[in-house]
Amino acid sequence: MSTKKAVNGNGKCKSGKILVIGSLNVDMVVDVDHMPVVGETIISADMDMIPGGKGANQACAAGYLGTNVSMLGAVGDDSYARLQFMSLDKAGVDTSRVIVKKEEKTGVAFITVNRNGENCIVVVSGANAALSPQDIDAHQDLLDECDVVLLQMEIPMATVCHAARLAKDRGKMVILDPAPVPAVFPEELYACVDVIKPNRTETAMLTGVDCRTEEGLKRAAKRLRVKGIREVLVTLGGDGVYIDSATCGISHIPARRVQALDTTAAGDSFTAALAFMLVQGKNIREAAEFANTVSAIVVTRKGAQTSMPMLDEVVAYMEQDIMWQIETRKEAQG
Ligand code: RIB
Repeated sequence: MSTKKAVNGNGKCKSGKILVIGSLNVDMVVDVDHMPVVGETIISADMDMIPGGKGANQACAAGYLGTNVSMLGAVGDDSYARLQFMSLDKAGVDTSRVIVKKEEKTGVAFITVNRNGENCIVVVSGANAALSPQDIDAHQDLLDECDVVLLQMEIPMATVCHAARLAKDRGKMVILDPAPVPAVFPEELYACVDVIKPNRTETAMLTGVDCRTEEGLKRAAKRLRVKGIREVLVTLGGDGVYIDSATCGISHIPARRVQALDTTAAGDSFTAALAFMLVQGKNIREAAEFANTVSAIVVTRKGAQTSMPMLDEVVAYMEQDIMWQIETRKEAQG
């Protein structure tokens, strides 16, 4: 387990500290031609075991971008946990507060990825389900030290709500990825969230609004804003990201055109990259543009934590894209 501080490409510590509270899993990934339907048996050539979990993926992505990030979560005392620690240590994440619950097993996710890179995920929570509000209380100093707290919903709802409340009381920025959306979303949680990042399906589930059209997205995002959330970002896969922001207004950033190999952790990397930019004082639109690029890179690679880019890769990608846009414009002008 490492306590070392993450460094950027220049070897310098970035300002702003991120705390991720959430799940750690090991992903069992099978590639298939198409998703099986009920009663169908299909063959996959291979299975990969890859470190994942929405919380750990966010921490890993933030670590590779070079930010100072700590992970608070729970694992079992098993080889899956060791795989997770190795991966997060490599990314420079402080894992000293990941709690080893000897009586539990590390969480596992079964992921099927089709030829379009789309996935279906079933999570067996294991130790993630045992992360309690008392565990958060025992590590409150992490909440004092950080600037931003990232939360998702693969740990008990009571723990998510408790952590969000403690963070809010301390004036920290709270970013929530509401995945998976619970059957009943606690209203009191909305009051503690500054930034929410659901995808299209999750937005429809949270608001009861059909989000298949731009008009629907607009209405749904507004409903979330009315609940007191200042920044609503709906990630739309190949359709980019829809933003309704108290600071930057309404905008729709198109997706970068890439060939998706595996969309696993695209949302997790987006959230982490968003937080990375926000702790550096960027506005929500600038942060979303950057996060869009990070997740575009992630979907061209296989797996969750194995697909996270370093900061210099993201910068090189953006520079290349600007050059390409200039060339294309020149060609169009003759
Ligand atoms: O968001 C992707 C993640 O969801 C996977 O890594 C899997 O572990 C599940 O938590």
